[in-house]
Formats: sequence, C-alpha cells, structure tokens
Amino acid sequence: MTSTQTADRAALDSLESRARARPGDYGANALIACESLVRIYQAEGIEVQALQGLDLLIDPGELVAIVGASGSGKSTLLSVLSGLDVPTAGRVRVGEWDLMAMTARERVTYRRTMVGFVWQQTARNLVPYLTAAENIAFPQALAGVRGAARKRRSAELLEALGIGYCADRRPAQMSGGEQQRVAIAVALSNSPQVVFADEPTGELDSASSDQVLDALRAANRELGATVVIVTHDSGVSEHVERTVAIRDGRTSSEVRRRTHTDEHGAEQVIAQEYAMLDRAGRVQLPRDYREVLELSDRVRLALEESHIAVWPDRPSGAGAAGAGSGEST
Ligand SMILES: Nc1ncnc2c1ncn2[C@@H]1O[C@H](COP(=O)(O)OP(=O)(O)O)[C@@H](O)[C@H]1O
Ligand SMILES: [Mg+2]
Repeated sequence: MTSTQTADRAALDSLESRARARPGDYGANALIACESLVRIYQAEGIEVQALQGLDLLIDPGELVAIVGASGSGKSTLLSVLSGLDVPTAGRVRVGEWDLMAMTARERVTYRRTMVGFVWQQTARNLVPYLTAAENIAFPQALAGVRGAARKRRSAELLEALGIGYCADRRPAQMSGGEQQRVAIAVALSNSPQVVFADEPTGELDSASSDQVLDALRAANRELGATVVIVTHDSGVSEHVERTVAIRDGRTSSEVRRRTHTDEHGAEQVIAQEYAMLDRAGRVQLPRDYREVLELSDRVRLALEESHIAVWPDRPSGAGAAGAGSGEST
C-alpha cells in the first residue's frame, strides 16, 4: 500500500467513524438520552400523541423529578425508559442500551440488571405472601445471587432505607409508606444504575410521602443510583435538585435548586428556572410571559451581544427599536 492510499484509508476510516458516531453525539455524556421521542397510541380509530418529540438528558448520579399534569405523557415516558414499551419514533438510549434496537432477550436482561422500578400502586410492587426481606431477595434469586449474599443485601437495603424493622412483615402488615420503601429496596436489589418511580407518593399522606422521597434520596446519595421520579405533585420539586416540567408530551422548562450558605451560616435555597431548547432550536415561551406582552403567532428576534431579545410583532414604532426586521416599507 502506498502512503497516499494509507492516508486515503485513514481519512475514510475517520469519516466513517464520525458518520457512525453521529447518532450518539446528542448527550454523549448523559446516562439517559431521549431525542425527539414520539409515541402515538391508536385506540378505536383515534390517534393519541402521548409523546410529541420529547428531548431529555439525565446525567449519571442525578436525582430528577419530571412533573406534569395528568395525561402529559409521564407514564408513557417511563414505560419507554423501563423497556416495557417501544416508541413510535425518535431515539432513546440508557447507558449502553439502545432501547429502539433491543431484541426481546436483551430487553429482559436490561430490565433485570440495568433498571429498577417503583409503581404508584403499592400492590403492584410487592408479592403479597412474601415478607419484606423475601420480596427483596426474590429478584436477586432470579438473577442467580446465592442465598447468603441475598440475605446480606436485603438486610443492608432495609437498613439504608430506614425500614429494618419491617424485614419479617408481609405487605398487609405494613403502612403504605413502608410498603413503598420496601418497593424501593426491591427496585435496588440487583444494584441497577437507574431507578424509575411512577407517582411513588400518589397514594400516600404527606408524612409518608416525605419518608418515601427521603428513601429515594438515600437510594441516590448513599447507594449511588440515578433516580427519576415522575409525578403530578409539584411539591416533590422541593426534594430534588432538578425538576423537569413535561407538557403535552414534551419537556417544556426546568428548575434547578441549590443550597447556598450565606456569610452568617444560614442556608438558602436558590432556584433558577430555565426554558428548554430542543434539538431543532425551539424554545417554548412561558404562558404568563406571552400574555403580559401579548405575544402570539409571530415574534421578532434580535441577536444581542450576550442574549437574544424577543419582540412582539406590532405595527411600526411599537417598542422594537434595534430589532432589525428588514421589512420596512
Ligand atoms: N395504552 C394507551 N392507549 C391509548 N391511549 C393511551 C394509552 N396510554 C396512555 N394513553 C394516552 O396518552 C396520553 C398520555 O398518557 P400518560 O403517559 O399515561 O400520561 P400521565 O402519566 O402523564 O398521566 C393520555 O392522553 C392518555 O390517555
Ligand atoms: Mg401516569
């Protein structure tokens, strides 16, 4: 092979690897990457678009709440992420797993090793005739973990989630909050990288809800799982650092919270709200902003040094000095 051929070959190889790498580019460092996800349900001739081009990135180690009204697509999103449902279009990756391209066998392995779930209906999470410890041991047995190791892991999880005293109780002998915390332990039993929880506090009073959210935080902080909670309860936001709002099957805005200690040692929570910029460059303007400025239909944009200004499209002179539209007559 001549050196030119070698160079050509190298150039071709690099082009090819770039072409192949492209689909994974978006959110390459994220643990969970959803890109333009669409899920259309057909029911009795009626089409429902449950997900309408949803983009979402979640980093390893995050504790995230996805909050939205009933019908906004939260459970659909979790079914997709947990490998139960396949979207109509788009891309979705969790760790190394391409959820659009898994075989049935890979799906089983994915569900058994990579992810754990907690459902809203407490009854769906636990086997009624097994004790808490046995419920936690069960998925480990399916994964081939030996008896002594199973016992150790079950005890460790019960302790970490503050329910060691429930080890020998069956679900009917525990409160709803205790059952949900056992369910979190079951979800964590095979050390998945991600735990998904669909309305985990939906059937609980506020004190039990707080305990369940504390347990999910322990799963995240102490046991190292990435945790994704979906809920219609905006109060959950106060328990997490990042809240993503979902509307009509798309992520629309997000709030990040951090604690700041001031010079007197007092802790302050600082919350910053963001709009989401999707892959195609679309931003949704909050309804109250649109109403105040009567923005509708068409707006003018102006690129400033450090930001972009958005102007109402009104007849000449209505404020927009400097927002060059180039449409003067
Ligand atoms: N299996 C299904 N068949 C038809 N429509 C469905 C199905 N599952 C959900 N939907 C519809 O999709 C939309 C989103 O539902 P869902 O993801 O359950 O929302 P959420 O969990 O946020 O309440 C709703 O309009 C719902 O009626
Ligand atoms: Mg739901």
